[in-house]
Amino acid sequence: MNSPQNTQNDIDDSDPQALFNHVTKSLASKAIAYLHIIEGDTSGKPVLSAFDYVALKRLFGGPVIANNNFDRTRANAAIVEGRADMIAFGKPFISNPDLVIRLFLGARLARANRETFYGGGEEGYTDYQVLRSAEPDVCYQDHERAWG
Ligand SMILES: Cc1cc2nc3c(=O)[nH]c(=O)nc-3n(C[C@H](O)[C@H](O)[C@H](O)COP(=O)(O)O)c2cc1C
Repeated sequence: MNSPQNTQNDIDDSDPQALFNHVTKSLASKAIAYLHIIEGDTSGKPVLSAFDYVALKRLFGGPVIANNNFDRTRANAAIVEGRADMIAFGKPFISNPDLVIRLFLGARLARANRETFYGGGEEGYTDYQVLRSAEPDVCYQDHERAWG
């Protein structure tokens, strides 16, 4: 996982673009299957400087999976812009057990409750509703479209 602008666990670098360009170029020669990049900061802190993720994709030359704070619109934009081939979803999968259907339908995504992360219990992991329960009208109208 490549996380140029993530400050988690006090990660910091004076010139992340130069560092990650170098690391990515080195990885390109290793015949690895894909590069997984966290864009921005996972804590939600705004990132101060611009970072050229398209440059990383070019330097790597293979499949790139981007992650962090994506929804359907941002995911499609990242792919169109050439920053990524695929998008990985973390928190949206926790709070939307039927995330793939919701993305397909363009339906609203439920937000995950950060207070129940890392809790060790079932609350916040098994009790988020699928669209069919939360918004039955939306779901039944579009069910055929989702599943053919
Ligand atoms: C509860 C929870 C546990 C996580 N555990 C890990 C982990 O063990 N290793 C890791 O690299 N990232 C971990 N992450 C970070 C996610 O993989 C992902 O990078 C981050 O949540 C941003 O993507 P998202 O906005 O799609 O959730 C975790 C995130 C959450 C919310």
